[in-house]
Amino acid sequence: IQPASSYNDDLRLAHVLADSVDDQTMSRFKALDLRIETKPDLTPVTDADKSAEEAIRGQLSRSRPRDAVLGEEFGSSGHGSRRWIIDPIDGTKNFVRGVPVWATLIALVDEGEPVVGVVSAPALGKRWWAAKGSGAYMGKSLAAATRLRVSDVSKLSDASLSYSSLGGWKERGNLDEFLGLTEDVWRTRAYGDFWSYCMVAEGSVDIACEPELNLYDMAALVPIVVEAGGRFTSLEGQDGPFGGNALATNSILHSEVLKRLNPNLDDLL
Ligand code: IPD
Ligand code: CA
Ligand code: CA
Ligand code: CA
Repeated sequence: IQPASSYNDDLRLAHVLADSVDDQTMSRFKALDLRIETKPDLTPVTDADKSAEEAIRGQLSRSRPRDAVLGEEFGSSGHGSRRWIIDPIDGTKNFVRGVPVWATLIALVDEGEPVVGVVSAPALGKRWWAAKGSGAYMGKSLAAATRLRVSDVSKLSDASLSYSSLGGWKERGNLDEFLGLTEDVWRTRAYGDFWSYCMVAEGSVDIACEPELNLYDMAALVPIVVEAGGRFTSLEGQDGPFGGNALATNSILHSEVLKRLNPNLDDLL
């Protein structure tokens, strides 16, 4: 059902990779013997995060041996313009608490641009995906897909804003601007992690933002938001390279939100 994209073979592979780890991660969700460790940055990681990334990396080394890979748990390997970016479980804190809002994020970045993204959330029974030029979709499989389109909300007072946590805004030096924005929108929600951005693509949320985010947290989300008609930049309005922080909107509200979060920067698009 999708228009042609030069990345359709890569999109198909990303779905195969997601299919192959969904059962594995689901079998560890709420498992009584789940092994939880604490990383040096004091965040949790489980055996499910590690084995999902190992499985994806193993399949990529067979199917795309020339491509580079970056994963949250096992770092970088290989060189070249094409790089697969993996967050084996986004929402590990939810995963360890038994909250079903977690997903495997798989992206292909070509020449620095995220061109394929698959977000698979088996505990929610949901999957979102996109390839550059062929639209963004959601559904349980390629065959049963719905095309995604961002909202047409044009006023902040009608907008829904979603984020992950309040941590990080103070360090960035604009907690007051962020809180001011949350007061002026219609609703503020903390759906968290990947879900805020997928809901922007669905048109259910109009603004998603985060002051601290790594490339592997967002690479898969960029094409899904952009192919649905949204805009995805840094909090300062840069289109890439991605990493550090993130702002995704329905496009219409983007420049207004950028101005609110950066009152001292004048020429933001
Ligand atoms: C976390 C999520 C969260 C963000 C954190 C990330 P993880 O990822 O993306 O939304 O606020 O900075 O570390 O560790 O659950 O993959
Ligand atoms: Ca993450
Ligand atoms: Ca993770
Ligand atoms: Ca983590």
